[in-house]
Amino acid sequence: MTRTVPIPHGLPMDRDAGPFNPPSAITRLREAHPVSPLHFPDGHEGWLVTGYDAVRRLMADTRFSSRQDIGVLHVPYDVPGMPAATEPSPQVPGLFISMDPPDHTRLRRLLTGAFTVRRMKQLEERIAEIVERRLDEMAALTPPVDLVKEFALPVPSLVICELLGVPYADRDTFQSNSAKFMEKEVALEEKMAAYTGLTTYLSDLVAAKRAAPDEDMLSDLARHDELTVEELTGIAFLLLLAGHETTANMLSLGTFALLEHPDQLAALRADPDLVPGAVEELMRYLSVADIFYRYATEDLELGGETIPRGSTVVVSLLAANHDPLRFEDADTLDVRRAARGQLAFGHGVHQCLGQQLARIEMRAGLAGLLRRFPTLALAVPADEVRLRTDMNIYGVHALPVTWTDPAR
Ligand code: HEM
Repeated sequence: MTRTVPIPHGLPMDRDAGPFNPPSAITRLREAHPVSPLHFPDGHEGWLVTGYDAVRRLMADTRFSSRQDIGVLHVPYDVPGMPAATEPSPQVPGLFISMDPPDHTRLRRLLTGAFTVRRMKQLEERIAEIVERRLDEMAALTPPVDLVKEFALPVPSLVICELLGVPYADRDTFQSNSAKFMEKEVALEEKMAAYTGLTTYLSDLVAAKRAAPDEDMLSDLARHDELTVEELTGIAFLLLLAGHETTANMLSLGTFALLEHPDQLAALRADPDLVPGAVEELMRYLSVADIFYRYATEDLELGGETIPRGSTVVVSLLAANHDPLRFEDADTLDVRRAARGQLAFGHGVHQCLGQQLARIEMRAGLAGLLRRFPTLALAVPADEVRLRTDMNIYGVHALPVTWTDPAR
């Protein structure tokens, strides 16, 4: 079926509906065509999926492949003139987020035991300590301070470093390289240099752990002889990147969203039991990891459309999570809402491995922040907060905050 394609050039990512809602073009599109053709900047035709039901179905179906080394997986940079990959990326050993079963299953299985709810619960106390320590350090500063630098980024970085056995002292290496890697408007060569910098660092680290294993998760993995050093490096890269970037942005953007919704903030302060539900709702409402790609390995039906074999399919989790057919008043932040079924951790075989860990960090982080800083406020007008529209994970670059007396 041919019809007017609503989006002529790549993805509209302009946050014209405010910092927390999907771009209005995406919302309009979801209402009219939850599964829609999409013109890529290079002229290649693909699909964009924005409706909740369609996104869920697609992510549950591994015939929509996650691999990037087959077909032509075009990455639609939303800025015209930006480099677009015209060749499929090679399969990176160990990077199981970009694999299909059975390769994906083999690697993921090695890790599921380490990320169970029970294992994560055991970390709760340690995470609470890390949060409290950072809050103490922040309280000792003279406001205004940048919440990203002082709290939102250090907490998940410290947690994932400790869990994996990556020295936190090396954070400059992995934080600056991963930030560069996540940047959209960066030349491909620069991106590759950041990637190489990070993988060289990690490959030395896992080789050292294989030679002399310690108590941490990378050492546990290094004990599996069937994993090569290249695979271990890919796994470490994925866990380190996924483990700090996303949660850091949820903590900072989540705080910004609450400060911008004083009634919701007041409800949370009045009843801390609302925090777990609020975290789920913030996940839904903000969906910081928004855009994912799949590749149709055969002709596939989705939402009444036929997606031809070989198509690149772009998924917007943010759009799906704001679908009014699934969530009432979907563009409204409501910390009392039961946001069960939200898709911000994905769905299907690739559903986020670290979701329990992320939940624990977000609950402890937000609860602690609200308790210790009862007068927390933005230190700049909201429209001066720098949004991460230039990055693959959404959030804020910095969140200047201030307070009067911190609590003990
Ligand atoms: C996968 C989001 C935190 C590790 C995913 C996926 C999403 C996601 C949407 C699915 C990707 C896909 O289907 O292609 C998030 C968000 C987080 C978060 C929003 C924080 C708020 C974490 C943490 C870790 C982690 C703390 C810790 C290690 C992973 C891994 C995968 C993954 C390893 C790949 C799973 C697979 O392919 O089987 N995440 N994540 N994530 N996440 Fe998370």
